[in-house]
Amino acid sequence: MASMIVLLVGTSLAAFLVTRLLQGIYNLTAHPLAQFPGPRIAAASEWYKTWQEVFLSRSWIDVLYELHDKYGEVVRVGPNELHFSNPSAFTDIYNNSNRWDKEGKLYRCFGEDRSSFGYLTYREAKQRKDVMAPLFSKRATIDLQDLVHKNLDRLCKALAARDAAGKSSDMIFGLRCFTLDTITQFCFAKDVEATSAPDFQAPIVVAMDASLAPFVVFRNFELVRKIVFSLPGWFTKMTTPPMAGLVDLQEMLGAQVKEVVRNPSSLDNAPHAIVYHRLLDPELNQATGVPVPGSLYEEAQGLLFGGADSAANTLAAGTLQLLSNPSQYKRLKDEIIAAWPSLHTFPKWEELEKLPYLTAVIQESLRTAPGVPGPLLRVVPPSGARIGNATVPGGTTVGMTTLFVHRSSEIFTKPNDFDPERWLGADSYKLEKWIVAFSKGPRSCLGQNLAMCELYLGFAHLFRRFDLRLEGTRGPEMPWKEAFLPFFAPDKHLRLYCKPVEQ
Ligand code: HEM
Repeated sequence: MASMIVLLVGTSLAAFLVTRLLQGIYNLTAHPLAQFPGPRIAAASEWYKTWQEVFLSRSWIDVLYELHDKYGEVVRVGPNELHFSNPSAFTDIYNNSNRWDKEGKLYRCFGEDRSSFGYLTYREAKQRKDVMAPLFSKRATIDLQDLVHKNLDRLCKALAARDAAGKSSDMIFGLRCFTLDTITQFCFAKDVEATSAPDFQAPIVVAMDASLAPFVVFRNFELVRKIVFSLPGWFTKMTTPPMAGLVDLQEMLGAQVKEVVRNPSSLDNAPHAIVYHRLLDPELNQATGVPVPGSLYEEAQGLLFGGADSAANTLAAGTLQLLSNPSQYKRLKDEIIAAWPSLHTFPKWEELEKLPYLTAVIQESLRTAPGVPGPLLRVVPPSGARIGNATVPGGTTVGMTTLFVHRSSEIFTKPNDFDPERWLGADSYKLEKWIVAFSKGPRSCLGQNLAMCELYLGFAHLFRRFDLRLEGTRGPEMPWKEAFLPFFAPDKHLRLYCKPVEQ
């Protein structure tokens, strides 16, 4: 019996290895991408990526930079995947004419398949985004800017209290508490009061951060993701305490979805229009029908993850750059003080938008912060496509990270320098199209107006209300690893002493 089992296992293993070998040989010799440059091992097998980012624990973006240095502007990074480094390729992939699908293996990892972020096809995403878009319009955001001010005021009071106690503040976590409070109120009329957590260690924020590193494993091992996602909440809490906040968040969102589906009239009490007003309106959802509860839940989770980290990271990254350059710091502060003379009367977003230096600082922060540094993978339609200088066959997975545009020396002089001045010259408008932090085309960011409002108001509150001082000495950028979003080294987060100004 035992020998039968050994024989069976041995035969299966041999069959598996032979199949992989044959597949590898095909990938290297006869695959439609066989002529593209890149490491042979990456062309042969997907294990190259897994080896680099899971086993060697390297940031995929570092690998990409290395590969482009060696192989040129288009590299075959997997058997069926190309990555591009030429900024014009970004425009060829992400533009309003293309209706390309998102790539399934990557996007399924988020567990938000039925959401504006997670839908793979243009059609499904467009239907969902069209329903929600009015909530995220510039007009709607202007109307809700008091909510952003209110949450910043709360953050500033917490920063001031810490300073009074002689403590510095972790600005990555502090600012994420602010953006999380804002997005939960903006989208769901729920106040999770993250900013009130001691040391800004709000369980949800801690858990969202803790979920970034496992994401790299999930995108390489789909089975591991499926198993982890299917575990009951209590088990996750018991075995992985840092994820407890995420379980709580999922339970909170799930409970709200249940409540609004069971009792839609509960929405009548909301202080302003929220996503469920639109998603549960049969008139607005005629084409597809009102989303099922699972889809509502996934939408909520997608909005939280989309809405919390990136704006906070961008604010923190820009602030660190300004603190590393005293003349830029002073120029921004002087401009904001002139536009906001009385501390107790908050300025309107529309007024702040007219400030040239603040606007330049925000552009430069969007350019130099990591943003969404993972390649935004798309599938070339069956007709094939011309991308950069390459003719790419249909069915190929293609992608680019925004950083290759933002840090391109072909477009930006001294691309690694934080230089708001570059946005103030007469010709600077020509550079604007190369700010692609929110991506471009039909799958570009739904929340960009809210993000811009948070950036304008966020910089204004921080630089007007405090004298900011770095804890310790450090370089102008925080180290991070790519996990689709950036995962900042916890001991290298920006920490500031925030001393309130008198008036
Ligand atoms: C500075 C802040 C932000 C940056 C840099 C940013 C960046 C991006 C990028 C690059 C994408 C494309 C992702 C992809 O192709 O897979 C995206 C999509 C998205 N973002 Fe943002 N985002 C920011 C803030 C926000 C906020 C505040 C929200 C709040 C609602 C939000 C919601 C979304 C959603 C729902 C999508 C999915 C759109 C789609 O797939 O069609 N984002 N964002």
